[in-house]
Amino acid sequence: MCGIVAYTGPRDAVPILTEGLARLEYRGYDSAGIAVVGRSEDLRVRKTEGRVAELTASLPARFKGSTGIGHTRWATHGEPSDENAHPHVAGGVAVVHNGIIENADELRAKLEADGVVLTSETDSEVLPHLIARSSAEELEDAVREALSQIVGTYGIAVVDTRHPGVLVVARNGSPVVIGIGEKEMFAASDVAALVRYTRQVVHLDDGELATLRADGFRTSTLDARATSKEPSVIETEEAAYDAEGYTHFMRKEIHEQPAAVERALRGRLDGRFHTAHLGGLDLDPREARAIRRVKILGCGSAYYAGQVGAQLIEELARIPADAEPASEFRYRNPVVEADTLYIAVSQSGETYDTLAAVQELRRKGGRVLGVVNAVGSAIGRECDGGVYLHAGPEIAVASTKAWTSTAVVFALLALHLGRIHDLSPADGRRIADGLRALPGQIEEILRQEDRIAALAGDLARYRSMLFVGRVRGWPVAREGAQKLKEVSYVHAEAYPASELKHGPLALVNPDLPTVAIVPDDELLDKNRSTLGEIRARQGRVVTIGHRGPGEDAIVVPKSEPELDAILLTIPLQLLAYHAAVALGHDVDKPRNLAKSVTVD
Ligand code: G6P
Repeated sequence: MCGIVAYTGPRDAVPILTEGLARLEYRGYDSAGIAVVGRSEDLRVRKTEGRVAELTASLPARFKGSTGIGHTRWATHGEPSDENAHPHVAGGVAVVHNGIIENADELRAKLEADGVVLTSETDSEVLPHLIARSSAEELEDAVREALSQIVGTYGIAVVDTRHPGVLVVARNGSPVVIGIGEKEMFAASDVAALVRYTRQVVHLDDGELATLRADGFRTSTLDARATSKEPSVIETEEAAYDAEGYTHFMRKEIHEQPAAVERALRGRLDGRFHTAHLGGLDLDPREARAIRRVKILGCGSAYYAGQVGAQLIEELARIPADAEPASEFRYRNPVVEADTLYIAVSQSGETYDTLAAVQELRRKGGRVLGVVNAVGSAIGRECDGGVYLHAGPEIAVASTKAWTSTAVVFALLALHLGRIHDLSPADGRRIADGLRALPGQIEEILRQEDRIAALAGDLARYRSMLFVGRVRGWPVAREGAQKLKEVSYVHAEAYPASELKHGPLALVNPDLPTVAIVPDDELLDKNRSTLGEIRARQGRVVTIGHRGPGEDAIVVPKSEPELDAILLTIPLQLLAYHAAVALGHDVDKPRNLAKSVTVD
């Protein structure tokens, strides 16, 4: 998704902007550009369709300036092209914009009626024109005036040659973080672009603007009331944003899972009462007992992890629970009940649909907890309480460690709620021990990588694959299919194994292999007969379960049955990754996808 970087200070902004943009590449983009205010207070702009490296290489040596903005664009209005790339310019004003301006057509028509010539097809181009036409003395006021005409979402950064050394940034629905340096200031849409330069950051809230000068910043609301912000410190090491010797971030993040799970568990298991403590929950036992239903919301992989969570809560706490795509929930005028606990799941904490679902719930008086990875993100701040994953930054578009850590956090929450309800101390201990064993068991699965890679290389020749699982295996099958299609572009369809006979069996033939999730649980026999039906129709079956050996069997260590989904998913991540590598795809930045979808 689009990325923003901005700088003002004594240094040349250009290398800071291009390096920052490179750090944001992981979010997905199709074009890039920068604008700086040069020494003679002139505006220098360079933008291009394609990669940040091409943009950097195309910059002449004299392209310098100490205040500037940069952008990576993910096309929404208008195809990827040099003209549609940001920054957009009017006179001495340059703007980069994330988000969508909903009344752009109307604003474009008005500007054109006034004789303005617009050169791009974007919604964003109206912004510099509106700002340039303002007669306000301060750039901040000109930006405020322009934004008052905008309907939609934005994160923006603005420079103006009439105000050299000044940067204005604003946020409404699209993240903006200010980075505080020594006599220099930064801003970005994501801390990944800032960690190299500073650890002190301030997250803007929706409806806030900030003016940045080398020696400081001030924030205010859209209606010009000053706000005061406390800086927070980025805890993550800069190295976490590097691939550190791995060929891809996705592989690095798959291998980080034992450590990520340990961090998700750290300090949260109580050996005395065989329960879990989750500091951010803000839910006393009486409130927890009053919960009659749990509804989990998220998008993509976060939704599938939420489905695992719903099963865990229902199994361990015996509270009815289900998961639903946040993107659907927000549009269907849901019934919101006071005794339902709503939980929003998001790695980035910025997914627009999930954030909108949270806001809709809060408006209706619902109680919402967040299960979020990115500290300080919008969803984390919007919720009534919640649990951080502490998985560390996830850079690859396809989620791996955040998925696993989310499932682990749900197991902790289910244990906590279960022990308040009817889960016995013995079962509490069993689950806690099962959780403690996970990091070592994940290591065991990762040691099978070569075998799984060989199998993936073989499977990559098929054009389509079926993933099936029953009950606990069903969200695993869905996540496995999601991973495969995201990174390898092999068509993959997930079905509950129990539904096979009601449709997908018609597809089974020697060219359609099935990946079946078959844990050694009470449904093993049922699953076996399903696999028999597939094999009887010459369908190849690859099993992920607890029994082998066999060329097409991947065996994972046995966990507690309720926790099986967590371990069964790890081989599917490796399968997707190695299939994508075998097919020569850009694993970390799959086509058409973005790491976090911050637009409607
Ligand atoms: C995008 C990504 C998915 C991700 C989903 C939710 O669609 O491509 O990989 O699962 O967003 O992201 P979130 O940050 O909310 O977990």
